[in-house]
Amino acid sequence: MDNRGIGVFDSGVGGLTVCSSLHKMLPQEDIYYFGDLAHVPYGNKSQKLIQHYSMQISKFLIEKNIKLLVIACNTATAYALEYLKENLNIPVIGVVEPGSKEAIRVSKSRNIGIIGTLGTVNSEAYINSIYALDHQVRLYQQACPLFVPIIEEGILEGKIAEEIILHYLSDISKEVDTIVLGCTHYPLLKKTIAKIINKNITYVDSAQVVAQTVFWQLKESQMLNSKVEGKLEFYVSDSPKMFRNFLKLLEFEDSRYTIHEVNLEN
Ligand code: DGL
Repeated sequence: MDNRGIGVFDSGVGGLTVCSSLHKMLPQEDIYYFGDLAHVPYGNKSQKLIQHYSMQISKFLIEKNIKLLVIACNTATAYALEYLKENLNIPVIGVVEPGSKEAIRVSKSRNIGIIGTLGTVNSEAYINSIYALDHQVRLYQQACPLFVPIIEEGILEGKIAEEIILHYLSDISKEVDTIVLGCTHYPLLKKTIAKIINKNITYVDSAQVVAQTVFWQLKESQMLNSKVEGKLEFYVSDSPKMFRNFLKLLEFEDSRYTIHEVNLEN
């Protein structure tokens, strides 16, 4: 039994998809979420900068007395997972490996597409992770740098979203039967993607599999929380206006959480 909380972070609202699955699967756990709204998007930033932001946020979350850290961001997982693992003394879970395992499990044709930010695609984190598990698969990658800005703006459907989706996905969707949503923001656009890409494709959303990974890791190490109901604390590094809308959209109950704006530079 370990009643300390779980830390979760992302550049913005994307990691809320992971946080939502975690909260549903482990409602007794305290969750401290950090959305780095001051620096979103992470996808076009250097590895050095992502490591710096990730370390600042991790230190902040560790001060909340957490027992485990979830990097609910593919870009930060690709660029900073090893760095955080080496430098922090709590377990750190990223999103790339759980998503890779799930893609291999669900793809029938073994033609798998990976979409993500420029950083995630350039890092080849998914290629390395999937090939390490199975090198018989054929992998196709596509960076979609405009997805995160429109999602953060709340543009999840309609003409603009559809045009952008077609621009990035029409070629890759012809080649594959499975697409890994290799950015935690993308599940928020999934309905529109599925509607506009006129083909039977399985979309791998790592939120669910990451939540399962956290559950098993805590269970096996006997670190689950014994409380009845956990608390949810959201921290953001800039104005939380749009962030609040996403909390509503993802059906977080108003009475269950608090939200705080903090400046990590101080
Ligand atoms: N949601 C993040 C990811 O999974 C970050 C995207 C971004 O900020 O560019 O990569």
